[in-house]
Amino acid sequence: MSLLEVKNLTYSYGVGTPFEKKALDNVSVNINAGEFIGVIGHTGSGKSTLMQMLNGLLKPESGQVFLNGNDINAPKNNIRNIRFKVGLVFQYPEHQLFDDTVRKDISFGPRNMGLSEEEIAERVISAAEFVGLKNELLDKSPFELSGGEKRRAAIAGVISMEPDIIIFDEPTAGLDPNGRNYLLERINDYHKTKGKTVILVSHSMEDIAKYAEKVLVLNKGRIEMFDETKKVFSHVEKLDSMGLRVPQITYIMNKLKEYGYDVSGGVLTVEEAYDELKRLLCRKRGEKC
Ligand SMILES: Nc1ncnc2c1ncn2[C@@H]1O[C@H](COP(=O)(O)OP(=O)(O)O)[C@@H](O)[C@H]1O
Ligand SMILES: [Mg+2]
Repeated sequence: MSLLEVKNLTYSYGVGTPFEKKALDNVSVNINAGEFIGVIGHTGSGKSTLMQMLNGLLKPESGQVFLNGNDINAPKNNIRNIRFKVGLVFQYPEHQLFDDTVRKDISFGPRNMGLSEEEIAERVISAAEFVGLKNELLDKSPFELSGGEKRRAAIAGVISMEPDIIIFDEPTAGLDPNGRNYLLERINDYHKTKGKTVILVSHSMEDIAKYAEKVLVLNKGRIEMFDETKKVFSHVEKLDSMGLRVPQITYIMNKLKEYGYDVSGGVLTVEEAYDELKRLLCRKRGEKC
């Protein structure tokens, strides 16, 4: 049994109005514990809609979402408890900061989980540390923080619940390159050190190539592909036809291969390309390396 099973999920906005729009059309997917899943798709392909259905924020029109075999929308299941297990970080999560101190904001989730004061305090400290938020900021108002700090505080508010699955819907939007890299590394650490399942929605094919083990491709509300990252990114033309471009380095390496250079196809990151080219140069010079 998979940790998360999505079965024949369909969802429309504005049902019965002239603006009715089918956002998801018969989507089925299984996600296993401990996976790092990347989600890609053109704007409007249904990524955010699907993410909000995974933690019960949106209810299916038809179909089911099972968490550990339990239908999360079944009347017997308290949806609040589901949200402690499936954490969702929206785009611009800092807009959801609301309390008068950062500490209170981060402790909101753990408090609702009914944890002891002692445990809540520990969770806040470790979540803040995890996202790289300095201790002295905890007693400030969220509104005194910089943009990047606010983002970290908002993410700490989800991490403090220690969800089994954590979903990030375009978490780096609006951050500078340093802020982006830092955040992605922290997300990757969360996955690696705690063994938690991470679902990352991103526009950046580079970021997905670097971190995701599997990639889910949505197109017009349907799943177009769901496979290991290398396999998905080898369908260059298919992705192109959906308005998705594989990382630039992949194009460059594919071209070199086309021109007859002995490099492998499906190179996804600059680091991999560096290794390939180094190998090629060494061979040409007759050196061992
Ligand atoms: N609140 C809403 N009301 C009406 N239509 C919506 C709403 N949210 C999304 N949609 C529509 O549903 C489709 C899927 O949107 P969304 O899930 O946000 O896609 P993505 O996250 O991939 O950009 C789009 O056509 C979008 O316009
Ligand atoms: Mg979206």
